[in-house]
Amino acid sequence: MVRIAGAYRVRPGTTIQQRGSKYMVLQSVSQQTPTTKAPEPTLGTDLIPKERYVSKEFMDREWERMWTKVWNIAGRTQDIPNVGDYFTTELGPESFLIVREAEEKVRAFYNVCPHRGNQIRNPGMGHAESFQCAYHFFEFNLDGSKKFVPDEDTFTQGVPQETALIEVPCDTWGGWVWFNMNPDAEPLMEFLGEIPEHLNPYHFEKQYFVQDVTIEWDCNWKTSVDAFNEVYHVQGIHPQILENIDDIHVQIDLYERHNRYLVPFGLLSPRYPNQEELTRALKEMLQAAGIDPETFEGGPADVRPALQAQVKKHAADHGIDLSELNDDQLSDDYHYYIFPNITLNTHHSGVMLFRQRPHATDPNKMYYDLQNYVRIPEGSDPPPRPVHTTHKHGEISLGLGLDQDSYNLPRVQKGMNSHSFKGLLINYRERRIRHMHKVIDDYLEGPDR
Ligand code: FES
Ligand SMILES: [Fe+2]
Repeated sequence: MVRIAGAYRVRPGTTIQQRGSKYMVLQSVSQQTPTTKAPEPTLGTDLIPKERYVSKEFMDREWERMWTKVWNIAGRTQDIPNVGDYFTTELGPESFLIVREAEEKVRAFYNVCPHRGNQIRNPGMGHAESFQCAYHFFEFNLDGSKKFVPDEDTFTQGVPQETALIEVPCDTWGGWVWFNMNPDAEPLMEFLGEIPEHLNPYHFEKQYFVQDVTIEWDCNWKTSVDAFNEVYHVQGIHPQILENIDDIHVQIDLYERHNRYLVPFGLLSPRYPNQEELTRALKEMLQAAGIDPETFEGGPADVRPALQAQVKKHAADHGIDLSELNDDQLSDDYHYYIFPNITLNTHHSGVMLFRQRPHATDPNKMYYDLQNYVRIPEGSDPPPRPVHTTHKHGEISLGLGLDQDSYNLPRVQKGMNSHSFKGLLINYRERRIRHMHKVIDDYLEGPDR
């Protein structure tokens, strides 16, 4: 194991567990994603108070007790391949500077100069031999330590040797750099729990950006998370998807902190009126997989197995090893939610990541990061990295499905602010939402972390 900035990095495919003050590698895991249904926790049936979505006081408690204690994705290791490469990432009122300090060491710092507080770098990415603050030229090494202070002798009190960029725990998994504002944070692998074992078969570290956008949405960050953690709204918001997903037979698994649901793709919803129809959406899926829908001889129920067989054949022809994925994973969305704000829509050849970030001051605003990655054949060149762009709500299309969600979210937030609305009435199919609130309470009401 390699110790990195206060946390531990382990080989991909291993799990660790705390034993006293030591972190032990317990087992090597390279098997398939477990599909066993998790036992159902008891979560109650109460209304979820609307204050959790609209109140500044609740937002402030979330920041103090939760956001500053959890591991969060900062960005991709692929964006900082060389020593001195860096990028910034913003979370709530804070900005962080992520730096590859050495070949095997990535560090995370508050993006704040200890002299008079100037930001060391503007949002973005780049390369530096050292970090010189633009205000008065204090300069810092890549490990954050003080390198040079102009006119140092004029600080009659002296410049303390420990004047440095303030570091926070940092580690990597899945090709992402993660950081945690809690200096005493548990190790990343402990925080992630079952996630690496479940998702290592997708090999995110071999996947590359094809889309990287941020949208400012007029809703609470949880309003957005909720919209993706249930498929109950498909019939209302996305009726076209009834043509090619099963929104009823969805396995939901609630773990200690994180959760998932497994959504079958490539078949008709039981809600769809004509169960014999080879719908336009199913035909499009066949076409996209390289199967001519006009000569396809099966009915709607034959599409999903045909897609899975075709994916296997295509992968074999193109040198992509999908042997760690089960057949369902070749068609379906194994949809994982890593508490509090990472959603991974996993597919055999790529992942669509959502990251919901809270606004600095307003509970009715948030930032939605949409990132799409593709897996490429061994030995082939990655696609050019798209430039990250930020947009206001509605400025660009995110595709029909996400546009439908985007349209809806500010309206939900406005409704939640109404005097008439008391709280969220959650059904069994929406219980991932209730589970998230239970975990939030673990942070807000539980022991100090
Ligand atoms: S604020 Fe950075 S050198 Fe003065
Ligand atoms: Fe949706």
